[in-house]
Amino acid sequence: APETRDTWSSPSGFILAAIGSAVGLGNIWRFPGVAFESGGGAFIVPYLCALLTAGIPILFLDYSIGHRYRAAAPLAFRRMSRPTEALGWFQIMLSFVIAVYYAAVIAWSMSYFVYSFNLSWGEDTLAFFTGEYLKVGDPGVSATIVPSVAIPVVLVWVAVLVVLALKVSDGVQKVTVVFIPLLFVAFAGLVIRAITLPGAMDGLNALFTPDWSALSNLNVWIAAYSQIFFSLSIAFGIMVTYASYQRRKTNMTTSGLVVAFANSSFEILAGIGVFATLGFMAHQQDVAVGDLEGLTGPILSFVTFPAVINQMPGGNIFGAVFFGALIMAGFTSIISILLGVAASVQEKFGLSRTASAITVSAVCAVISIALFSTTSGLIALDTVDQWANNVGIITSAIVMTIVVVWVVRKSGVLNRHLNAVSTFKIGRVWVVLIGVLAPIFLTVMLVDKLISLIGDGYEGYPQWYLALFGWGTIAFVVVAALILTAIPWKGRDNKDFVAWP
Ligand code: PHE
Ligand code: NA
Repeated sequence: APETRDTWSSPSGFILAAIGSAVGLGNIWRFPGVAFESGGGAFIVPYLCALLTAGIPILFLDYSIGHRYRAAAPLAFRRMSRPTEALGWFQIMLSFVIAVYYAAVIAWSMSYFVYSFNLSWGEDTLAFFTGEYLKVGDPGVSATIVPSVAIPVVLVWVAVLVVLALKVSDGVQKVTVVFIPLLFVAFAGLVIRAITLPGAMDGLNALFTPDWSALSNLNVWIAAYSQIFFSLSIAFGIMVTYASYQRRKTNMTTSGLVVAFANSSFEILAGIGVFATLGFMAHQQDVAVGDLEGLTGPILSFVTFPAVINQMPGGNIFGAVFFGALIMAGFTSIISILLGVAASVQEKFGLSRTASAITVSAVCAVISIALFSTTSGLIALDTVDQWANNVGIITSAIVMTIVVVWVVRKSGVLNRHLNAVSTFKIGRVWVVLIGVLAPIFLTVMLVDKLISLIGDGYEGYPQWYLALFGWGTIAFVVVAALILTAIPWKGRDNKDFVAWP
């Protein structure tokens, strides 16, 4: 049968889509706070190490698997070696978990975009966010749905569904071609405004002043590696899927370098914008930037920023651009997460693109509403995020690198594949990085993280709660992956598949 697989319509279409996936909420609200708490200017050392020794090499690994075996993660791994299909599903289920809460955050950004026009969050932005908007209760499982969250969540899933029902060159590619340039321009405007505010320089000094002693802290290194993984969207099966839509003649490694560079540049840009703004806030309150609270995560975007916006001349425009940027950055990432899931379901069950897009979006929408649009949503989100990113994704990367290099021994094949199609050639050092250095480093980090999560818990939440939402998330991903693997393959698998080149 002839090859009927969708393709990106041009190499730059792929690059933009991959940048769209990488540049997301992680750049805007995760990076600045993590860098600040992890040694400021000194964080550049673990960050660059993580990028060069694990981030880019594993990005190339994802790309090579997707391009060589031309399928979403489960089928690509199955074609590489049949039992490794389970690893593909593990990655895809992890993506699925992330997507259901990521949608909630995009939904909040949509509400806040509207609120910015007349600063409806009022003076006490913390009370507004947790009380009036999210109606947060104690950690627990609540069935009380909050309509102001659930309605935009439904809109997000409808939009995702529409994009995924189209061919990649019409859906994902067109959305990113519009949103990514718009996002860069909007964000650049925001940064220029921010650095011209009084106190901005104090904010930048706070962010960039190096604390070299942080480098001896293992947690700082862990923070750098998880930031890089989340930020580049690697080891989630997503870049495998994206690369599978590349044409045969294509330049994989150079695209990877462009994507990694664009993503890191956007992180630095966001760090500058966010800390210049925080410097202004500290200046207004006459305190040191380091004494401010709420510098990371949802609190940064939905509590601290609204408070600053209140004090800024023309704050409502600044607010609308900021939340507009969060929506665009978030949307181009969530469609990448869902494309991985939808394409996997499509291939496994032999469904049409539309049927699989509808099924997957509907399931996601229901779970997004049930778990993250209720009065217990914020705490659930925080817990699931912690486990998915620090336990799930690191485990996925360790298992993937060890399996590819040492168990099915495909690193040589993939290395030659990358070099055959790319102008930027990679040497044996790549195999050493993914086969030796990355697994060792990542295992040390994972063990340390597990010890701290088991010993100290998380955020003082009750143990039963962590068992359910933290460890339960990992258990769900593993069990779902095993079940999906056990179901017999219903679509086309390897029968008429011929590997490139
Ligand atoms: N890379 C995106 C960000 O930085 C998030 C993301 C994670 C996207 C996982 C896809 C998969 O926000
Ligand atoms: Na990112």
